[in-house]
Amino acid sequence: MTKIPRISIIGAGLMGSGISASGALAGNEIVLCDRDRDRLAAGIEACRRNIRQLVEGGLVAEQAAVGAESRVRGETELPAAVAGAFWVIEAINENLALKQEIFGTLERIVPRGVILTSNTSGLRITDIVERVKDRSRTATTHFWFPAHLVPLVEVVMGDGTSESVALHLREVLLTWGKAPVIVRRDVPGQLANRIFQAIIREASAIVESGLASAEDVDTAVKMGMGLRFPAWGPLEHVDTVGLELCRSVQDSVLPGLCNEPHAAPILGRLLAEGRGGVKAGAGFHDWGTRSHADLVAQRDQFLMQALRILGLGKWSER
Ligand SMILES: NC(=O)c1ccc[n+]([C@@H]2O[C@H](COP(=O)([O-])OP(=O)(O)OC[C@H]3O[C@@H](n4cnc5c(N)ncnc54)[C@H](O)[C@@H]3O)[C@@H](O)[C@H]2O)c1
Repeated sequence: MTKIPRISIIGAGLMGSGISASGALAGNEIVLCDRDRDRLAAGIEACRRNIRQLVEGGLVAEQAAVGAESRVRGETELPAAVAGAFWVIEAINENLALKQEIFGTLERIVPRGVILTSNTSGLRITDIVERVKDRSRTATTHFWFPAHLVPLVEVVMGDGTSESVALHLREVLLTWGKAPVIVRRDVPGQLANRIFQAIIREASAIVESGLASAEDVDTAVKMGMGLRFPAWGPLEHVDTVGLELCRSVQDSVLPGLCNEPHAAPILGRLLAEGRGGVKAGAGFHDWGTRSHADLVAQRDQFLMQALRILGLGKWSER
């Protein structure tokens, strides 16, 4: 009987439970680890719900889901969690000191050759592995939320990451049906968040200047460029319209765009008004009159349809 590859995921929160579902569906044995027993149980339950959502969405067959569920188990102790794994993914809270501590321990207890990655969205892997001697086997693997539905995974190379480890991670993630990209320098925002933050900066500035309402900004992005993005990247767009035209559009539009190097002032004003977002009942939008749960459900349905059309997500029958 062939041995089932084992992956250890440290931190059974929002991201750990999503990554677990994707990894198990790709045929791996998953050991999910959380130091908090209740959070571990909740994380395993969330992983099961994620798998079930894909069954309900028609993307995963019942038999494959049962197989995936049987390959996920939990541990509260790190040494037991990482035993026999070929890859350890850290997905604990976004706290540099905590992550540094975990990587220090991992280096001591995990055999050479085992890949160690962090799911950090905002920290540098170079800083996280500061105390690790062999950094060649470390990298960031930044799964996007919700990790069981979004194909993008940014493989970010730290100062010490070896090329072969980054390439190997990309190969493994391709077998999961993910869409990995390699980011060659360890910079804030990695790759995709740099683009996303540029969009958010301009969107906030448009609302702030009164050019359009928050509703209309979201509609413009969702129903215009956003709708074609899965099949039509910005640079494919530039090549299609021609670089000559793109250059003249940039010369006329860019001087009027926001280039503020700090957080948008409107965020501070809304926060001061108690409009901190969905949890506060309002942010740019009023969530007292709109259902956020409906919005999330619509997003997930859309993502599942997109995965089907794109043929992504190779769900194992193992
Ligand atoms: N939430 C997102 O949308 C998102 C998206 C991409 C990346 N990330 C990144 O992923 C990571 C995890 O984020 P999250 O939202 O899943 O966090 P979360 O708070 O939902 O879960 C973190 C879990 O880690 C556990 N934990 C903390 N220290 C631990 C330790 N020493 N050993 C074992 N378990 C420990 C906690 O008990 C908790 O259950 C962060 O680095 C975050 O920046 C988050």
